[in-house]
Amino acid sequence: MSAKPTQETKHRVTQLRNVINDLRYRYHVLDDPSVTDAHYDSLMRELVAIEEQYPSLKTEDSPSQRVGGEPLKKFEQVKHQIPMLSLNDAFDEVELKAWDERMKRMVPEASYNYYSEIKMDGLAISLVYDNGQLKTAATRGDGLVGEDVTANIKTIRAIPLRLRESKQTAPYLKGLLEVRGEVYMPKQAFDKLNKERAAQNLPLFANPRNASAGSIRQLNPKITASRKLGFMAYQVIIAPTHPKLLKQHHQEHELAQELGFVSNGNNKLCSNLDQIVKFWHQMEKKRAKLPYQIDGLVIGVDDLRLRERLGVVGKAPRSAIAFKWPAEEVTTVVEDIAVQVGRTGAITPVAHLRPVEVAGSTVSRATLHNQNEIDRKDIRIGDTVVIRKAGDVIPEVVSVVKDLRPRHTKPYKIPKTCPICGSLVEQKPGEAVMRCTNPNCFSIQRRQLQHFVSKAAFDMEGLGPKILDRLIEEGLIKSFADLFELKLGDVEGLDRFGEKSAANIIQTIQSHKQITLARFLYALGIRNVGYETAVDLADFIVGKLPHHGTEIARHKSDAAFLGLLSQTTQDEWNSIKDVGPVVAQSIYNYFRDSKHINFLRDLIHQGVIITLPPKITANKEGVTGKSFVFTGTLESLTRDEAKEKVRKLGGEISESVSKNTDYVVAGAEPGSKLEKAEKLGVSVLTEAQYKKLIT
Ligand code: IVH
Repeated sequence: MSAKPTQETKHRVTQLRNVINDLRYRYHVLDDPSVTDAHYDSLMRELVAIEEQYPSLKTEDSPSQRVGGEPLKKFEQVKHQIPMLSLNDAFDEVELKAWDERMKRMVPEASYNYYSEIKMDGLAISLVYDNGQLKTAATRGDGLVGEDVTANIKTIRAIPLRLRESKQTAPYLKGLLEVRGEVYMPKQAFDKLNKERAAQNLPLFANPRNASAGSIRQLNPKITASRKLGFMAYQVIIAPTHPKLLKQHHQEHELAQELGFVSNGNNKLCSNLDQIVKFWHQMEKKRAKLPYQIDGLVIGVDDLRLRERLGVVGKAPRSAIAFKWPAEEVTTVVEDIAVQVGRTGAITPVAHLRPVEVAGSTVSRATLHNQNEIDRKDIRIGDTVVIRKAGDVIPEVVSVVKDLRPRHTKPYKIPKTCPICGSLVEQKPGEAVMRCTNPNCFSIQRRQLQHFVSKAAFDMEGLGPKILDRLIEEGLIKSFADLFELKLGDVEGLDRFGEKSAANIIQTIQSHKQITLARFLYALGIRNVGYETAVDLADFIVGKLPHHGTEIARHKSDAAFLGLLSQTTQDEWNSIKDVGPVVAQSIYNYFRDSKHINFLRDLIHQGVIITLPPKITANKEGVTGKSFVFTGTLESLTRDEAKEKVRKLGGEISESVSKNTDYVVAGAEPGSKLEKAEKLGVSVLTEAQYKKLIT
């Protein structure tokens, strides 16, 4: 049997506890760790050893109590002394303003200051202290009755088991004091936890909030202890028996810190809505870089008496509101899964999603990493999935909503042959990634894409080789049509693509959807078809098209166009001037391949508009081969009619004046095009002169 502890041992225990508590305070609250973890652990071991030897020395609030005791059978219920309310949401300035106006209509004479605090995305917890010692920790439950999770909460080091004593805290230490705040799981701990769970084939937590809730509503405190949870206080409820020393909500945060809690250091007092909105935008930018997840701000009236006067409506106080940012997680549908070949031949499966807004931008792609990831999450084509996009991170599929899975889906398997070059795909033992066995595969698609965007083709200046490589490697583009499908949210997250340049990339692509037929044919990269041949092909195709409009676009003339391409014989191609048998053969082979026709259809469906050269019905000297620009209003015919006449005679119409322009036809009230023509010395025709030329 253990002997009675000596006075000296008792003293040592008290000292150890004080030192350990102080180290905890420095580390968590002051964010100023003064000693190493090993140092802390060593003191803790000594304390635990003494308490083991002399159980009579154990106390409920000893820091040794954090290790996590015996598993519980069930959680007891706890009635909250004061209901735990919820908050109404505002998602933009207009809603914030409406909230402010509601309050000011109700209590117009008050002066309003606002405390803007960070809204942690975790789990609300109420902590009740009796004479400075943690008695009960409870979840919110239905707001009136929650669950007793004290044993679990004690394992969280950011929560003091005993409140700190100081001059400021002294008036509050006697009797009951309640502190409310949010338990959360840091992002790093969350990632680590999910990695471990993946390795053990356990289901993953969808987000840090679920992980923290799962860790608290957990009957075995040892498991909670292993989860690295944090806590931030946002409310101190002072019993009516205590002196009413606090007048403002921000003082609750100051007091909470004095008492030994962490309160968010980003919180800010604001004196008007403009300041709040500015802060809201600032924090949204900072959000992704914070080590924990947040989903908005909580804006509350600072004056506590005013809070009381404003009261409660339904389950929410009138005096506070959750000012949230667009969700970082949304659901959408996997329309297809495509595989992509990277520089090293690595095959990356990519989900093509129904475009959806997430965290403020539209997303249409999400990497699925590899076959193991697809298997683990069981992602199938047709599935409704949860997509996550946090700040600078590339969008990812978090999980599948299995209840919404359509019938007859099959698990997805990466094809055995490469979609780019048809070579075999292999997976080395012990590697998760599959690779195309053709070492030149990446360079094939890279070369094709570079050609597609080049100056004589789609002319997407700004989409240089580096950017293209990156887009290919991230699995964002495989085919030309993919380019036009890209959304801002798909590229925003890539390193070195700041917000601006990501937007520029999308803008460049989207503003180059219109292209002449010759350029278009050239862009396809058909073997042996250079630009000059493409021009000849374009003239030939136009001559054959049944109804000749000015462009090919979805539902306009695409069917006739695609039919013509796929049905033209090798001999017919060969009949074009300057097209010999070898060239005719490769053109024929290209368009006979239904894969290519489908791909052209995709492009047109993505909104690519192919403009057609005029069908030349007659030649006229001075018009055929000349370039015309029209400006101002014509009297005897419309501008479109006038243009059509030029086209029929083999002339070209352009929208802007350059030194290559042959004539500018100026009607009444001509625009700046006339000035430009004069500056460049381009011939200017009156309406009468124009008519003379074409008749
Ligand atoms: S004040 C009447 N402050 O957000 C409720 N809540 O949407 C007073 N939350 O249930 C809550 N951070 O779980 C407040 N700094 C903060 C918060 C915060 C996170 C959570 C809390 C609450 C929910 C309301």
